[in-house]
Amino acid sequence: MKQDAEKYKRTHTCGALARKDSGGTVTLAGWINRRRDLGGLIFIDLRDRHGMTQVVFNPQQNEEVFRMAENLKAEYVIAIKGTVTDRPEGTCNRNLATGEIEVHATELSIINPSKVPPFNMAEGLSLDETLRLKYRYLDLRRPGMVARMVLRHRAAKVVRDYFDGEGFLEIETPMLVRSTPEGARDYLVPSRVNQGKFYALPQSPQLFKQLLMVGGIDRYFQIARCFRDEDLRADRQPEFTQIDMEMSFVTREDVFDTIERMLFQVFEKAKSVELQTPFPRISYTDAINRYGTDKPDLRFGMEITDITSVVSGVKFEVFEKTREGGGKVKAIKLPGHSHLSRKEIEELVNMAKTAGLSGLLTIAFTPGGVKSFLTRFIDPECMESLRKAMGAVEGDLLLIAAGETAKVSEGLGKLRLDMAAKYKLKPVVDFSFLWVVDFPLYKFNAEENRIEAEHHPFTSPLPEDVHLMDTDPLKVRANAYDIVLNGVELGSGSVRIHNREMQEKVFRITGISEEEAYEKFGFLLSAFEFGAPPHGGIALGLDRLVAIMAGTESIREVLAFPKNQSAICPLTGAPVEATPDQLKLLKISVCEPSS
Ligand code: AMO
Repeated sequence: MKQDAEKYKRTHTCGALARKDSGGTVTLAGWINRRRDLGGLIFIDLRDRHGMTQVVFNPQQNEEVFRMAENLKAEYVIAIKGTVTDRPEGTCNRNLATGEIEVHATELSIINPSKVPPFNMAEGLSLDETLRLKYRYLDLRRPGMVARMVLRHRAAKVVRDYFDGEGFLEIETPMLVRSTPEGARDYLVPSRVNQGKFYALPQSPQLFKQLLMVGGIDRYFQIARCFRDEDLRADRQPEFTQIDMEMSFVTREDVFDTIERMLFQVFEKAKSVELQTPFPRISYTDAINRYGTDKPDLRFGMEITDITSVVSGVKFEVFEKTREGGGKVKAIKLPGHSHLSRKEIEELVNMAKTAGLSGLLTIAFTPGGVKSFLTRFIDPECMESLRKAMGAVEGDLLLIAAGETAKVSEGLGKLRLDMAAKYKLKPVVDFSFLWVVDFPLYKFNAEENRIEAEHHPFTSPLPEDVHLMDTDPLKVRANAYDIVLNGVELGSGSVRIHNREMQEKVFRITGISEEEAYEKFGFLLSAFEFGAPPHGGIALGLDRLVAIMAGTESIREVLAFPKNQSAICPLTGAPVEATPDQLKLLKISVCEPSS
């Protein structure tokens, strides 16, 4: 084979060849997935990101090339030239796109050898994540990772094309900014030319997208990188990507419609799934009451039902105390599980305690009759009312909790999800979207003993609740919405405040003084005085969206180079100490790190 770059100029990728190419001469380049020596022949699975092709080395064909092939090892990068040949009858591999052919090599070029990889590269093995992240460049060669990178690319491409088609402009907003108030801590960047001063990396493009609306841009979107210094979880990274958008002269209905059509296309074009639109909607209050969370997973039934009034006459101490204390008795129904053994019920009670409930009572509607500790207290008539209220049939199991309303809802909400996982309940649909609307405008921060914005302080109150702002601010509902997918908060948005007086009022109620508001957001307040149009928008987490589409638990699986749970990049070792020279230049001194 030629010894110049021509040698690895491939004619096809490793996923391209089929029977129709038989007889042709081709050049392939890629990595060795596996080598097998069989009956005087050497078989190589040659892999690239497009697929895998079987290459055969035969000493009869070329002795020298065969001898070279004897030295090939996993992950060597090679190029081969050869003839595409139909595989002999009975040796086709139906699981492989190229499984009907093989390439009989006539030339071989070993471009670069490889050390033995630090982990077994075979697909489907569960590997140590730290090792995978440390050698991410190897991990990226594995077909699962490739598929997720392709999915992410496709989803982002559909988003861009969609917004473009809808007349949105993609506009980049700055990365070195003043602090944006999204509620997390900022990553700070010292300025050399403005010593002692710091930029923040944007937690979101929120303020700039609002300024773009004041600037008449009308319809903006951005696939925007955001940075938040917060505690990490499976669905949180210190840097992540938002599909961020904002529109002028709109109501929330326009935002919902725009996003629903966008998601419809993303799922159709990147995943061949047809979503049902419009997505259901639920108010925040209903979500909490019926599912114990503001991000309900509607793939499973098991709605929480308030049975306080049904059991109001029951003389059972726990229920009576709950009634006296103003709490609630609530229940969920686990269909088809009346047969659970005493031991399994005990496990459920323990799960309930872990979910924050003080206890759990069960009623089993078994074929042999009602089985429950509560039959002593609940007469047959009341039991029948309870069965009806819960829509229970023979075979179902009721789980009942009593206590302080919010705690009971939250606990049963968690238990509901834990049970769906434990009993492997079959989801009604694969992708369950939902809009949660009418969030409270404010929440009470007990630690700091003050009222703060539930979403962010640029969210407008619902017009019909404005009159409550001075008297009962925690009752004010916001024109804010979340989009939830399979129980995960996928995105948040709102119709914004666009006049200075209202913005100042919202700040005031959260305890931000006029001076502080002016100092931090004066530029926005001033902009509102120059003909700011009404506007609203939303931002969706791209990483979360793609992770759910890909069926993975963690967003790290859909990022090429994520950080680990300690916000460290295991590959590069970032973050690292700054050098004394860097610090000197910035006039920064570092204290001893706290242990
Ligand atoms: P919010 O803070 O709710 O709203 O963020 C919007 C969406 O971004 C995703 N997200 C994250 N994804 C991964 N890692 C993180 N650390 C992380 N933090 C947030 C979530 C979330 O729903 N400016 C507003 C939006 C608006 O009002 O238009 C905002 O940023 O999917």
